[in-house]
Amino acid sequence: MEFSEVVRRRRMVRHFAPDPIDRDVLERIAATAQRAPSAGFSQGQRLVIVTEPDRKRRLAELAWEASYTERGFDPWISEAPALFVPAVSAKVYVDRYNEPDKRDPSEPPGTEDEWDVPYWWMDVGCTVMLILLAAVDEGLAAGFAGGDFDGMREAVGLPLDFVPVGVIPVGRPLKDVKSPSLKRGWRPLDEFAHWESW
Ligand SMILES: Cc1cc2nc3c(=O)[nH]c(=O)nc-3n(C[C@H](O)[C@H](O)[C@H](O)COP(=O)(O)O)c2cc1C
Repeated sequence: MEFSEVVRRRRMVRHFAPDPIDRDVLERIAATAQRAPSAGFSQGQRLVIVTEPDRKRRLAELAWEASYTERGFDPWISEAPALFVPAVSAKVYVDRYNEPDKRDPSEPPGTEDEWDVPYWWMDVGCTVMLILLAAVDEGLAAGFAGGDFDGMREAVGLPLDFVPVGVIPVGRPLKDVKSPSLKRGWRPLDEFAHWESW
């Protein structure tokens, strides 16, 4: 599929066929996601890929699936065949930027608070986008849900310095209920993109 078509086809899907997805396919999506850029090549992003029914159900609870089904959505998290949980550690970045090629070793070590823009959030966002696009490229679809992040960390056994940013269900798309947010429509391109200066 052409890149532009992958981008155009991508949308957040909220209903999936429960049929399992081959491990090879999930591994290809993970391998694509690993190619995300990272500040200082810190590579502080990680994924946990969940296919076990009990753990999927637990993650669905933590992503507040019931609040969607109450509003007429399908059980789009617990029923999806695979859940990708992307996570990132600020500590990996702080440690990386305390290495001698990034910081004068005679200076006191840098801390998390020094980052005006905490680039770990940007990097894990790049990882998320690659998962969403790689799923489409495999003929599948993906969605995204936030929720109880501490609970998600515990549910998938992440080390304490990693923050999971949400759950990405991946599977074969079925007809779904559209988010009411979509009624807003896309902003015009000239509102989004400014040339030479705002
Ligand atoms: C950071 C982020 C958080 C989101 N959180 C949720 C969420 O908790 N639940 C949900 O159903 N969709 C969530 N979405 C999906 C957005 O609602 C969706 O991307 C937006 O409505 C545009 O639709 P589209 O991605 O299908 O084009 C989230 C998207 C992003 C980027």
